[in-house]
Amino acid sequence: MRVLGIETSCDDTAAAIYDGESGALTQLRETQADLHRRYGGVVPELAARDHLRTLLPLLDRLLGAPPVARPDAIAYTAGPGLAGALLVGASVGIGLARAWGVPALGVHHMEGHLLAPLLEFELAHKPPPRPPMLALLVSGGHTMLVDVAALGVYRILGQTLDDAAGEAFDKTAKLLGLGYPGGPAIAAAALAGRAGRFSFTRPMTRRAGLDFSFSGLKTQVRVCVERAGRLGKQDIADIALAFEQAVVDTLVIKCRRALRSSGRRQLAVSGGVAANRRLREHLRRATDELGVAMFAPRPELCTDNGAMIAYAGHLRLSLPAAAATAERFDVRPRWSLEEI
Ligand code: KG4
Ligand code: ZN
Repeated sequence: MRVLGIETSCDDTAAAIYDGESGALTQLRETQADLHRRYGGVVPELAARDHLRTLLPLLDRLLGAPPVARPDAIAYTAGPGLAGALLVGASVGIGLARAWGVPALGVHHMEGHLLAPLLEFELAHKPPPRPPMLALLVSGGHTMLVDVAALGVYRILGQTLDDAAGEAFDKTAKLLGLGYPGGPAIAAAALAGRAGRFSFTRPMTRRAGLDFSFSGLKTQVRVCVERAGRLGKQDIADIALAFEQAVVDTLVIKCRRALRSSGRRQLAVSGGVAANRRLREHLRRATDELGVAMFAPRPELCTDNGAMIAYAGHLRLSLPAAAATAERFDVRPRWSLEEI
């Protein structure tokens, strides 16, 4: 089955064709980072308008010159995300599906992220790991630990009470004058940072439980910046490193705790922040110590992409009850993974 995946939930316009039989993947993505950079974050109206401008030409390029080899199904991100942005992908996905007479399926964006580590195996023509497993999903909008009993059977063990990890990276980068998106900018600045000059807390790690809170960390950086006065390049690098270390340590501590309490032996890590090298290295070390297998997709499959949506659609359409879920026009800006 060839599935066209369309992703427009936030600030990337992305589409991909995934062939479930051959494992072949073709994908395209256009980021809106330049558009939102001067606001230091995503402006929802601008995002929706830009998806509208970009999506059809991008699909033209992806599908090639007519006559187009139509896909067997279309998966689009139905939520969670920005309402206007989601509507663009849903309208185009459902419109094309009706015109071509193929099923359309609304996919949960976070399920797309959750399954991206498995897609990595398929692309290497290896059998993907099977649930049960634990998943750490860390993106611009979400930070959560999810118990995956089976495909579609998700239980959120912990999540952020305020800012998501990626959001904390973005806001802290703005404070440090490092630009948008903040994650890659902080990671790059931190490379020149000197360890030990600054130290921030590892929020909510002293108390029991698996929830997160990153907004206090951003406030600590703000206070530190205000105290420091005028910041030089080295100061910024030192603060960026201390911040990155605090976020990474916090995520690793909670993953260890979740692995211990759940007894799961596999950890899937995904979402934009999973592109972070320090996080990947530290999680790898921690899971090796615990004898747990860890999988994370290549960085471009961690951040928003059409491939994960096509793949999630492919897996869902392969389930026996798939027909009932197709052909409903629906976007859900707020939508829990547990409600799929
Ligand atoms: O998954 P994603 O592309 O979009 C959402 O679903 O939110 O995640 C975007 C987030 C942004 O906050 C961005 O700053 C962060 O992922 N990010 C990173 C890195 N690359 C992207 N954070 C830390 N280190 C990175 N290398
Ligand atoms: Zn995402």
